[in-house]
Amino acid sequence: MPWSDRQREMLREMGLRVWPPAGSSTQLAKGRAAGVTESPLAEPFAGEPSATPVPMHDAPSEMAPQGAAALAQPSPAAPAAARPDATAIEAVAGLDWPALREAVTDCRACRLCESRKQTVFGVGHPRAHWMIVGEAPGAQEDEQGEPFVGAAGQLLDSMLRALGLDRSAKGEPAERVFIANTLKCRPPGNRNPQPDEMQRCEPFLVRQIQLVQPRIILAMGRFAVQALLRTSEPIGRLRGRPHRYQGVPLVVTYHPAYLLRNLPDKARAWEDLCLAADLMDAAASGAVGSGTEQQR
Ligand code: URA
Repeated sequence: MPWSDRQREMLREMGLRVWPPAGSSTQLAKGRAAGVTESPLAEPFAGEPSATPVPMHDAPSEMAPQGAAALAQPSPAAPAAARPDATAIEAVAGLDWPALREAVTDCRACRLCESRKQTVFGVGHPRAHWMIVGEAPGAQEDEQGEPFVGAAGQLLDSMLRALGLDRSAKGEPAERVFIANTLKCRPPGNRNPQPDEMQRCEPFLVRQIQLVQPRIILAMGRFAVQALLRTSEPIGRLRGRPHRYQGVPLVVTYHPAYLLRNLPDKARAWEDLCLAADLMDAAASGAVGSGTEQQR
């Protein structure tokens, strides 16, 4: 299939070059435009932040097995993250947005409250169609109280732009997005989230998803995936196919911080965005439901 205008726009925003270029008349281009394989080529885009000052919650395990063989493997039965305490879920179950925000601000459920400058609740439209779930705030997020404002956030914003989305909560319903993290507090030194921290923080994310009622969730990075899908399967084995969280279609993709260090995987992330956009289109036309893996 030739690239659609939207796909080309998404690639451009993410710094990916496509073959064939628009209007190309080479034999190869003609052949590919006629339906033969096309492959995006990853390269950094102008002005992209350098890979160094990025929160590094993503361990190398994101460099997971790739390809169709990997995708075909089933998810393990064993959960990757402990379920949050039922009473903790209940405690936030009835909270509205202001009460939930206050509960997050005042939270002292784990050791991260000792080192945080402030909690990072989330940003976007309270009834967004799209929900992005990242991992945990880094230094800049801790300073500013907003998720994804550092280098990884700049890439995330480019990815969102490619989808026609805007974190400012303006725009049409289909352009709205809500961005949240699995943890609401920064782990010191940007270390990986610990299982007990994830367990104690998860009720807040659960309630955020309940309130937003997104039509699609994009889980970015392995900690978001562990929390939402309860699997320790690497990203490379989970991406490329739809999942579900509480009935909501969920797409797994690489964390933007990981992508800044692993530019070739931007092409795969772009495929994931296309999958998510396709699922949204299918949902809008009432066609979603079959072929989606139910998890959790
Ligand atoms: N990485 C995340 O997962 N979330 C942020 O808010 C910033 C970096």
